[in-house]
Amino acid sequence: FLPDYTAYTELLDVFRHFSPTPVLLDPERGYAFTAEELRREILGRGLGAILMSNPCNPTGKLVTGDEMSAWVEAARDLDCSLILDEFYSHYIWKGDEDIISAASHIEDVETDPVVIVDGLTKNWRYPGWRVTWILGPRRVIDAVSSAGSFLDGGGSAPMQRAALELISADHARKETAALRRCFGEKRRLMIDGLRALGVKFDVEPEGTFYAWGDLSDLPPSINDGSTFFRAALEEKVIVVPGEFFDVDPGQRRHGRPSRFRHHVRFSFGPDRENLEEALRRLGRVIERARGQS
Ligand SMILES: Cc1ncc(COP(=O)(O)O)c(C=O)c1O
Repeated sequence: FLPDYTAYTELLDVFRHFSPTPVLLDPERGYAFTAEELRREILGRGLGAILMSNPCNPTGKLVTGDEMSAWVEAARDLDCSLILDEFYSHYIWKGDEDIISAASHIEDVETDPVVIVDGLTKNWRYPGWRVTWILGPRRVIDAVSSAGSFLDGGGSAPMQRAALELISADHARKETAALRRCFGEKRRLMIDGLRALGVKFDVEPEGTFYAWGDLSDLPPSINDGSTFFRAALEEKVIVVPGEFFDVDPGQRRHGRPSRFRHHVRFSFGPDRENLEEALRRLGRVIERARGQS
């Protein structure tokens, strides 16, 4: 799906047996995509697997509840694997649930074609620990273990054992409750602060700690991702230009303009004080550009 996590570009590029088929999500619809549309794409294009981050990095869009149930049903009926990257599934801002996973819609883990990927990097905030896991049919787990062992020797057993306590349901729920209080406030601060500066949002983040901003109403000298990135960097604030998320394995677009050239991804991961300072600095960048236009 476009846009999605930047690293999928390399992933889909390296394994040449895949023919990656982009599915476009539309800003005007808040990146919504129905199960009916999913069925149409799978059947029409003969897709064997769907890969997506849920909640999505960068848009923060979340597929959940009956909608996810219908997605899993479509995957089951049409025998198309659904590979769901749930690295941000503890950062949920829609509804009352604290952790969202497609796991709750799986009827039989051995036969449902659903593979869930998660790890300690974001949901537990241990990026250096390098422990990740997958949930899916045994044959998939065996294939991934054997590929891992062939490619880099596989995971480190002591690091995996040490992670067991962290991933216990009780610990994870407590951590998530604390995380929701802290990040929920930062989310509001960021969205309101950026809106006051003239940044628009196609969708308020329903998950993740990112805000996917549309800069088209800012002065022309800083209203695309790369010019804004450079201007912000001069104030020592970093954002990620939207076009990086326009996943383009094999660089098929040959440098043609991206649909997301007016977008940037802001992160509300840093401490509150840093976010407040960043908003002040971005305010200065935008003021200066207004003065010059
Ligand atoms: C959607 C998504 N999946 C997985 C990861 C995994 O990150 P890492 O390789 O740092 O563990 C990230 C990190 O940004 C991400 O955004």
